[in-house]
Amino acid sequence: MATRLPFFSILFIIAALLQCSVRSDDTSDKLLQGINSYRASQNLSSLTENQNAACLAEQIAKQFKDQACSNTTGANTVPGTEQQFPNFPDFLNHCNLNASVTRDGAIMPACVPDLDPNLLLSNFTKSQYTGYLNDTQYTGIGLADEGNWAVVVLSTNTPTGNYATYNGKGSSPNVALPSSLLLLMLSFLMIWLS
Ligand SMILES: *[C@@H]1O[C@H](CO)[C@@H](O)[C@H](O)[C@H]1NC(C)=O
Ligand SMILES: *[C@@H]1O[C@H](CO)[C@@H](O)[C@H](O)[C@H]1NC(C)=O
Ligand SMILES: *[C@@H]1O[C@H](CO)[C@@H](O)[C@H](O)[C@H]1NC(C)=O
Ligand SMILES: *[C@@H]1O[C@H](CO)[C@@H](O)[C@H](O)[C@H]1NC(C)=O
Ligand SMILES: *[C@@H]1O[C@H](CO)[C@@H](O)[C@H](O)[C@H]1NC(C)=O
Repeated sequence: MATRLPFFSILFIIAALLQCSVRSDDTSDKLLQGINSYRASQNLSSLTENQNAACLAEQIAKQFKDQACSNTTGANTVPGTEQQFPNFPDFLNHCNLNASVTRDGAIMPACVPDLDPNLLLSNFTKSQYTGYLNDTQYTGIGLADEGNWAVVVLSTNTPTGNYATYNGKGSSPNVALPSSLLLLMLSFLMIWLS
């Protein structure tokens, strides 16, 4: 018992540290929940998180980061005038993606001051993006946010839109294991050790 107590303290510290390092982004979590509630309301399956799509979303969000919101940016962009990034191939490279696996995906940037959660969600569920969200061909989703910008990338489960990396490895994940899962694993470890 005397030796077990400090051991548990150490485990708890490790648990706390892990929890910190994998703490996923609150804005993106809420947005994902909101989008999946919308999908449910349309009788569509939930979108599952695609880390490679999230990697690309992060690259794009970083580009938008310093741009101000206006009535012609983000979800208000006039179709056909979307901002093009000449260094887009670099973003793909960074995420170990090849343009052939992103072709059927959808990239949707939105700009909302302070990323107000309700406005942000309606920028996806009540805008020109809505047609993508209620499209059955999409099965996966990657999210990122920077500054006033959130970027949602939708993926399919086909080779032309699944965001599979060319080396078979995942791209640097933003969100590792959900912390709840890690805590569960640690709890099992504790039970096993005691
Ligand atoms: C979803 O399914 C329910 C029950 O089948 C139905 O009443 C509802 O109209 C459907 N909603 C949509 C948006 O299709
Ligand atoms: C956008 O805002 C500008 C002024 O800030 C206004 O002149 C223009 O009509 C607005 N456009 C739309 C589509 O609302
Ligand atoms: C992308 O992948 C396809 C199919 O594997 C391959 O034919 C193509 O050469 C690749 N392109 C690049 C730029 O790697
Ligand atoms: C999207 O967010 C902007 C704030 O940048 C807001 O003015 C606009 O009403 C929102 N659009 C929708 C459809 O919710
Ligand atoms: C998607 O939602 C829009 C807006 O509610 C609706 O007009 C459209 O018919 C829906 N499409 C599908 C495939 O459900």
